[in-house]
Amino acid sequence: MCGIVGYVGKKNATPFLLDGLHALEYRGYDSAGLYVAGKGAVKRAGKVAALTAAVPSDFYGTAGIAHTRWATHGAPTETNAHPHTDEGGSVWLVHNGIIENYAELAAELHAGGATFKTETDSEVLAALVGKEVRAGQTLEDAVACALSRVRGTYGLAVMSVTEPEKIVVARLGSPLLIGVAHGARFVASDATPLLPHTREVVYLEDGDLAVLTPDAHVVHRLDGGTATRASAHLDWSVEAAEKNGQEHFMLKEMLEIPETIERALAGRLGKDGTVTLGGVKDMRAPLRGARRIVLTGCGSAAYSAQIGATLIERFAGIPCEVVLASELRYRPFLIDPKDTVLIAVSQSGETLDTLEAVREAKRHGVPTLGIVNVVGSTISRETDASIYLHAGPEISVATTKAFIGQATVLALLALSLAETHDQTNDETRAFARELGRSPSLARATLSARDSIATLAQKYANVSGAFFLGRGAETPIAFEGALKLKEVSYIHAEGYPAGEMKHGPIALLDPEFLVVALAPGDALFEKMRSNLQEAAARGCRTIAVTTPEHQEELARLADDVIVIPKTHEALLPFLTVLPLQLFAYEVAKARGCHIDQPRNLAKSVTVE
Ligand code: G6P
Repeated sequence: MCGIVGYVGKKNATPFLLDGLHALEYRGYDSAGLYVAGKGAVKRAGKVAALTAAVPSDFYGTAGIAHTRWATHGAPTETNAHPHTDEGGSVWLVHNGIIENYAELAAELHAGGATFKTETDSEVLAALVGKEVRAGQTLEDAVACALSRVRGTYGLAVMSVTEPEKIVVARLGSPLLIGVAHGARFVASDATPLLPHTREVVYLEDGDLAVLTPDAHVVHRLDGGTATRASAHLDWSVEAAEKNGQEHFMLKEMLEIPETIERALAGRLGKDGTVTLGGVKDMRAPLRGARRIVLTGCGSAAYSAQIGATLIERFAGIPCEVVLASELRYRPFLIDPKDTVLIAVSQSGETLDTLEAVREAKRHGVPTLGIVNVVGSTISRETDASIYLHAGPEISVATTKAFIGQATVLALLALSLAETHDQTNDETRAFARELGRSPSLARATLSARDSIATLAQKYANVSGAFFLGRGAETPIAFEGALKLKEVSYIHAEGYPAGEMKHGPIALLDPEFLVVALAPGDALFEKMRSNLQEAAARGCRTIAVTTPEHQEELARLADDVIVIPKTHEALLPFLTVLPLQLFAYEVAKARGCHIDQPRNLAKSVTVE
């Protein structure tokens, strides 16, 4: 977790550092700080705004580093905020990741007379680097030497008071990229802070250490030698990373869903329903030979993987299993590399558990495919092939458009696998046609926004909520509940509706809400019964359905949300939209921090 930015050039570093932290705040926002050469450090507990207010107006310097934190070691206090320094104040460092052996390193330094001011693992790293600098090493050699002692993960930016025109950065397990401009070098945890300044970027790889000066960046390998890292061009627009006049990023991103689907389909879904996925060309043979598919991811990505699994099983007839990445890593590895493919689903492409699940699969020779939004992210680079969402940056911590983007790409993959496994038929063709129409169906669904805002007012104070679904709607029940709890802090659970009688039903009372996903699919009648059972217990009820069932469900449920009619397999793409809007509107009614909910971070790069 945590966000890092740095600048070395000819202009004032401070505005870039503060704006950059603001852009990276989704990575962590419990405390923040910056160091500017010739001026020193300012740190504050709380959000970046608190830091901005504390930085004096004459805080001018041409090089600096900054950090927004998501605490792992030590409380989110001003003292524990980065940048950290060594005892003599000779080096300053910002760190994203975890130093696993920090306690033993601290004990060793302590025995040599060192004392520590913070509770963080990162301060130990600053002490190690400082010791080498004071012994006369260059900053890059000092950092390399310190890192040779470290076990754990890091994205790191370090400065020395004796070499003020230099930033040394290093990466192992936490993302970092360099921005290249005339007479300036930038560093950041992701591309968003760089967009207003440069489009030329260099992605660092694990084991890289780079030395940045205003006119150059030299990449070394921590295990020896230099490395050549080609630069890449960013095509995200600055506006895409801003709110476009909406009150919150979450709302802006939900309203972008029709366009997100269009972008995911563009150039891939032909008018005749055929699918072209350029990203999988290196994976053609394993995909053609696949007799089983394991999908993995975390949080919402695991739920979109479930949508994908349902579609692949239905259209391509290949058995699929979805395993949470954090579980897959530690299970006995029983995936046969000869006929199984692992698909890793991740918006950021940096989620540590998902990345480690990919690495575990690779160690066992299993072909790996990434479904990723962030181009150049670690998962996209480490999987054998990747399909990008092209959804643009997603800033709100709670994912919305990327969830649909993932489901869309998985739908394309299901159709593509149906082709390679000779399963194309009228049903797949009908689904492909509807998938082509899905941007306009999503637009129509989102137009119910105002009525959902009214509903949200009515249900903003329920004591808890169940989201019930069956079959293809089960992942949507999970996602609807996750969204509500993430942003509104109402306790919510998703259940396959058939499970409700096995325990959860005991919780139903007049303050409790049940949201039943009951569109016109093959399981409609079963869902209607479950809704009836819930209503009979006197709880509050909302049904999500298609127009043909609106009237009858209006007699059973307190409120009905209607989505457009579409192909049965595409219904989950629409039923999830009112649930996202509902979570957003409830959170707004309750005055929550919608884009940055408490305790969460967008990119979870620790276990
Ligand atoms: C965090 C986010 C979730 C997201 C999950 C996986 O928990 O808050 O919205 O679904 O990480 O992230 P990924 O980037 O791998 O899709």
